Order: sequence, then structure tokens, then C-alpha cells
Amino acid sequence: MRRVYNFSPGPAALPLPVLETIRDELLDYQNTGMSIMEMSHRGKVFEGLLDDINQRLRKLASIPDRFDILYMTGGASAQFAFVPMNLSGKGRKAGYVNTGVWSEKAIEQANLLGIQVFDAGSSKDKNHSYIPEVKTTSGLDYLHVTSNNTIYGTQFQKLPSPGDTKLVIDMSSDFLSRPIDWSNIGMVYAGAQKNAGPSGVTIVVVDREYYGRESAETPTVFRYSTYAKNNSLYNTPPTFQMYVFGLVVSWIEKQGGLEEMHRYNQHKAELIYNVMDEFPKFYTGHAVKNARSLMNITFRLPSEDLEGKFLKAAEERKLMGLKGHRSVGGLRASTYNAVGEEACQVLSVLMREFARSNGG
Ligand SMILES: Cc1ncc(COP(=O)(O)O)c(C=O)c1O
Repeated sequence: MRRVYNFSPGPAALPLPVLETIRDELLDYQNTGMSIMEMSHRGKVFEGLLDDINQRLRKLASIPDRFDILYMTGGASAQFAFVPMNLSGKGRKAGYVNTGVWSEKAIEQANLLGIQVFDAGSSKDKNHSYIPEVKTTSGLDYLHVTSNNTIYGTQFQKLPSPGDTKLVIDMSSDFLSRPIDWSNIGMVYAGAQKNAGPSGVTIVVVDREYYGRESAETPTVFRYSTYAKNNSLYNTPPTFQMYVFGLVVSWIEKQGGLEEMHRYNQHKAELIYNVMDEFPKFYTGHAVKNARSLMNITFRLPSEDLEGKFLKAAEERKLMGLKGHRSVGGLRASTYNAVGEEACQVLSVLMREFARSNGG
């Protein structure tokens, strides 16, 4: 079997034991004689699976009772619109921290819906290489932040304080990679495709207190309360993706939970950041040190020519998916939950050798 070291930004690597379980159960899910993809989302088997996933997730991420867990489609991009539609409304006020392209897309949707957007901080002046000071004000329906900035490789090391409102967090690229302190949170959403599963399902954890705030004309299928009332089965949900998400949740449990996942992710990222710090003239990090992401490590080499050469040398060692996003350039190593220590070790060895043999 030829499996590469997969550093893709998303869809991203899945744990091998999860893929093996999918393979083993694909034709006959737990003696039902059919694939999980072939059965009704309203049948006993799928509903049982869904309850089990919810219980496990609630325990794994220590989600307090006041929250519902919903499964939706349309990715985080759809949430950019669903959040203001459900939690705020035309003429009302919400705060947004701008830490990059994804925050900007969220702000764009709030503007489209007539929300008064309060500028709660921005890192735009330095191409989003740092995490800005977060300001807040009174009367906000929520304060929106992007906890990990996939493109730039920056991450909130600690969640900001939202003042007298609650945080709404786009956790698309760090959900389930570290423990979550729910005390100031109103809602969290994340596409599964980085740390938690395949693309096609969005996990939404929302405080029930928000239901009923949407305007009367909000279509039924766009309301969080509809998903909550129907246990995410109002329309046919992405059943296969939810099943795989459940397998990833169980895999994280087996790794020792979120504390342990966090420790492992810190160790993996350190392997790579340490080489950058050994050769600071050769590897220039995009993120300032105190904003470094444990999930996406972004760096440049002295020239585009050398970056091209590095990518080729990486491929020869089966290190894939390392090309940076066009708005930052250079390289990006996405070291999500399922990217193993060995992959990070192999990359760090190449980085050291490459710097030494190219004048670093
Ligand atoms: C932080 C963040 N938010 C939102 C998105 C958009 O997600 P989707 O493509 O699932 O809509 C991404 C995608 O990479 C992301 O990294």
C-alpha cells in the first residue's frame, strides 16, 4: 500500500484506522446487510448511530447542556450567512474580528443581511500575520472570531473575552484539536474536513437561547431551531459523512481525548517550528511567534526558485500538499489531528538537510 505523508489543508488526512473501519463496514454495516449509505436516515440503525455520536461528542468536547449539536451542509461558508440570519437581524449589531479571508467572507454576509458590523479588531495591515487585540462594545448580538486562520497559519492561543455578549466561533480548522472553554461561547461551527472527518458535513454547536430570534421570513430550512427540533433530520442529512465523523470522534477518544490530542499537536508542530527557529534566515515564518498555529505552519524560503526545489524534494520523500495558499505564498504544512508524528519528523529532517545544503 502506498500512503503518502499528507499535509493537505483540507480536505485533509484521515486516521488510517478510520479508513480501515470504513472499508471493512462499507458493504455490510454491523450485520444489516447494507451499507450505511444505503439506509434510511429515519431508520432505527441510523438514529441509534446519531444518538451515539452526539453522546460521544458531548463527552469528548465537554459540551455543556445548554447547547444543541446540529449537523448541517453548505460548509462553514453557509454558516457565514446562517449566523447573522439566526442570531441577529437587519439593523441589529454584531462584532467581527478580521483575521483573514474567511473572516472577511463572514463579514461580507453580515453586511449583505443588513447587520451593523462592529469592527472588533483586524490584522489586515500586516497580511494577517498576527492576532489583533480584540475590542468589544455593548449591544452586540454576538462577537464573531475565526479561531484558526488556515491560510496564514495564525491561531488564537486563548479565546478573547467578548464583554457582555457571547462568542460565535468559526473553528473550521481547529475543532477537536484542543480542549474548548465553553464559558464565553454562544456558538461554534466547523466543516469536518480538516480535523474531524470528510467534507460535506458541518458541525454546529449552538446555545438554545438563540432560537426564535430569526425574522419571520427566514426560510424553515435555514433556521437552527428547525435542525434542533428534528434532531438534524428535517431533510436528508449527509449520513455517510456523519458516520465518518463519528468514527473520528471515537478515534480521538482512543488517543486519550482532547487534552492528549492537544499535547500531541503541540509536539508535532514543535518539530517543524524548531527547524524554522534554527535557520531563521532561511525559513521565514509568516505568523509572528506568539500567534503561531498548531494546525497550519506557513513559511517562505529565500526565493521562489528554492521553494520549487523544496517542493520537489518533498515529493520524493512522499511529503505532499505543502504548497502555500496564493495569498501568502511559500509553503504551508497542515498538521491536523490525523497527520502523524512520523510525517512531521520526516518533514523536519528534510527542512534541516535542505537548509544546510542550500546555504542556510
Ligand atoms: C477557517 C475556515 N473557515 C471557513 C472555511 C470555508 O469552509 P467551507 O469550504 O467548508 O465552506 C475554511 C476552508 O478552508 C476555513 O479554513
